[in-house]
Amino acid sequence: MVAAPPRSVPVSPVSAEEVAGVRRPVHEAHLLPPRVFHDPDVLAFEQAAWFGREWVCVGREEDAAGSGAFFLVTVAGQPLIVVRGNDGAPRAFHNVCRHRGATLVEEPCGHLVRFQCPYHAWIYDLEGRLRPPRYTDGLTGFDPAEWGLVPARVATWQGFVFVSLDDNAPPLMDALGDLTDTLERYDLTVLRRARQIDYDVKANWKAIVENYSECYHCPGVHPELNQMTPYNLGAWLPSTGAWNGSYMEVVGDYETLSLDGATHGRPDLPGTEPEDHKRVYYFVVWPNLLLSLHPDYLMTHRVWPVEPGRTRVVCEWFFPPAAIAAPGFDPSDAVGFWDLTNRQDWHVCELQQAGSAARAYGAGRYSTIESGVHAFDLLVADRYAGDGVVSTFERVAKKPGSAKAETASANGNGRRAGMARAVGER
Ligand code: FES
Ligand SMILES: [Fe+2]
Repeated sequence: MVAAPPRSVPVSPVSAEEVAGVRRPVHEAHLLPPRVFHDPDVLAFEQAAWFGREWVCVGREEDAAGSGAFFLVTVAGQPLIVVRGNDGAPRAFHNVCRHRGATLVEEPCGHLVRFQCPYHAWIYDLEGRLRPPRYTDGLTGFDPAEWGLVPARVATWQGFVFVSLDDNAPPLMDALGDLTDTLERYDLTVLRRARQIDYDVKANWKAIVENYSECYHCPGVHPELNQMTPYNLGAWLPSTGAWNGSYMEVVGDYETLSLDGATHGRPDLPGTEPEDHKRVYYFVVWPNLLLSLHPDYLMTHRVWPVEPGRTRVVCEWFFPPAAIAAPGFDPSDAVGFWDLTNRQDWHVCELQQAGSAARAYGAGRYSTIESGVHAFDLLVADRYAGDGVVSTFERVAKKPGSAKAETASANGNGRRAGMARAVGER
């Protein structure tokens, strides 16, 4: 097999000077410059340099569960096939025939025993090897072994499938950092998808991740959510690596986030501990995976930039197999709750997208309850700057005296200043 041809490192269109205001302590910092939400050159850079080189979550192992099971996904504009081989290993290939470049597989998902090009019928096995094609015997310098499908890197974690288009990217586990330790007690691998809703949001992908990273907006935008998990009750989790996490407290008699706040007898997520029964955990996993662990289900958002002002968001709900198998299983209370909440979020994200294009808008300021936004923006700003500086972030407590601010690495190379948690914000 051959590797994809090497590409030059994309040049950032956003200078270190332009994001210097972001890379300040949060109480001094400014938000990202407005143009990074609107400029096509910025999105082209993000696609090429981040989505096209770093590890990106593309789905779940259950989407390619048995040998020959496959699904298609496009990462940074590159069409890929993710397929389970006869040896049980998941693989990814560029969905391009090596002969004249036809798209090899058209169906979005399914099951195949081999890949046969619809054009001139070249055949590749599930491991990407080309079967010697007709009328190629007499060719000079043509070895079918050198004309297999072009692979991309695949790695899995907790049932998630990640792809990197960069042969030189550090291993997935390095990118995830200590998130793997934080979630080690869970067995998310066994969970199965019960529902998926795709949203077409008219906002930049970073605006959507920023929105997920704070609950400052919750009292006004999400009255239903705010009643069950008040916006200022929660804590940060220690983190190193390109992720950050927090939890919010489920108050009163509410058991989970659902239309009526009840789990309806659904079992806990495997690995939960007693303290988890009244918490909802939120994780931003760079760049595009958002994990929300409820006592009884996992919800994920995968965020796919389409245009500077347009993003496809894939929202999925996963439950333990025992819950799905139980008579009368109906996830619509959890799905309905978050579908409502999602749409509330998309509305304000679209307002931000529209308003921040106006000449009157310059980069705003973070409130002291938005340091989660700052943490994400620092991951963004450091990557724009490309100067090797790894920014640290502070988590400023909302409630005076409730906890000390803490400092952690935004990119994973710094040291945390102890384990103190800033209570009262997300
Ligand atoms: S393009 Fe695939 S066989 Fe010709
Ligand atoms: Fe929200």
